[in-house]
Amino acid sequence: MTANVAPDINAGDALVLFGASGDLARKKLYPALYQLESRGRLDGLRVVGVARSHWGDEALRGYVHDSLMLSGKPIDTEVWGRLSERMSMVSGEYTEAATYERLASTLGAECARPVFYLAIPPSIFPAVVDGLAGVGLAGERGRVVVEKPFGRDLDSARALNATLHAHFPERSIFRIDHYLGKESVENLLVFRFANSFLEPIWNRNYVDNVQVTMAEQFGVEGRGSFYDSVGAIRDVVQNHLLQVVALLAMEPPLGADAEHLRDETTKVLAAMKTVDCKHLLRGQYVDYRDEPGVKPTSQTETFAALHLEIDSWRWAGVPFYVRAGKALTASAVEAVVELRQPPRMLFRGRESDPAGANMIRFRLGAHDGVTMTVQAKEPGSAATSRSIDLAVDFEHALGTRREAYDRLLDDALKGDARRFARVDGVEEAWRIVQPALDDPGPVAFYERGSWGPSEADSIFRNEGDTWHPPLI
Ligand code: BG6
Repeated sequence: MTANVAPDINAGDALVLFGASGDLARKKLYPALYQLESRGRLDGLRVVGVARSHWGDEALRGYVHDSLMLSGKPIDTEVWGRLSERMSMVSGEYTEAATYERLASTLGAECARPVFYLAIPPSIFPAVVDGLAGVGLAGERGRVVVEKPFGRDLDSARALNATLHAHFPERSIFRIDHYLGKESVENLLVFRFANSFLEPIWNRNYVDNVQVTMAEQFGVEGRGSFYDSVGAIRDVVQNHLLQVVALLAMEPPLGADAEHLRDETTKVLAAMKTVDCKHLLRGQYVDYRDEPGVKPTSQTETFAALHLEIDSWRWAGVPFYVRAGKALTASAVEAVVELRQPPRMLFRGRESDPAGANMIRFRLGAHDGVTMTVQAKEPGSAATSRSIDLAVDFEHALGTRREAYDRLLDDALKGDARRFARVDGVEEAWRIVQPALDDPGPVAFYERGSWGPSEADSIFRNEGDTWHPPLI
């Protein structure tokens, strides 16, 4: 006997994709949509593309099909047939009321909960939300999904949020930071709060410092003109890396629902001091200025290293070091929590490994997992300790996981806001990095294939602190 499953009253019944002919849609959203259809997650959902390109329904289907071919995954004709017959296209200028009238009539009165995905530049958001409101598609009825960048500083972020709030309540605004959709990042929350062994040591009494590294081996690759107006701090530190720090440092939430989780991540961001530019280092890889679209005198950072402080009982005095860069030695994303040494060192370490600090290393990029570096007895007659790694690879232990966009699109369609950024958290994150945007100072140059400028060591607060090379 099958149980009666109550209909999900939050689930959207149409996905309206603004920017349907764009890059984000092609690279991420269509492959994610197809995966959801193949798992039976779309439940007859209609897909309406909106773009300025003069496309009809067939052109949209052709573009989506090409995007699936490019994704390299097999396409099942039955799944594709089911999905493609529910696709339609509305072409028109985003600033013209007629575009929204056509959209409203395409959706029809039977569409009760449309989800509007704005895969378009934020400068067009005001025109789109006004246009939707003009035909009665905003307010409680619709839900809007937006992509980073959520502004380029605190003021513009506030203005952007005001634009969205003019026609949509906060609970209907889903801000995508794709790091929150990664299983490896969400694991920080589970690893901390579903186990009891960490909590007693997860504080200033036992933690010496925390380091978060986001290293990318590739440069700006065809995104020169976009990236040159953004830089590493706006591109990944304000959002992805501060979210990772918040998950590492937050207090236990009262519940696992969206509001309780986001209350705690916002609280820890609110306790973070604004960046002190004395502990900030911006770098640029040597041939960055030769990249197409980059200004020949550009001072945009392709690398940033900074020291963050959290002014709370749990973390006062513990430095959080964050670094991110392009054109580095290797690609890796890691958060390393380094513990203090025992109060008395009874055993000598090996000469090559004198410090012997315990480390808990969350590997958040490819081959994600956790590695704990602990001390064990070195074989032999001397009582010498030696660092060894206790490591788990999550794919090996837990199997294949879903891609971030696949999960986030699913959540946005179902109305589950847990993995989306809330207005207050986003604005706190801009507050923290604002001094680094106002008064950044010159960039230091570094060679491609290095770990960034050697000056990156100047941001350390405590003598003896050093960057831990990611495990690659
Ligand atoms: C994006 C940035 O948000 O994240 C890119 O704009 C960066 O510059 C990318 O390369 C990294 O994402 P991931 O999932 O590959 O770590």
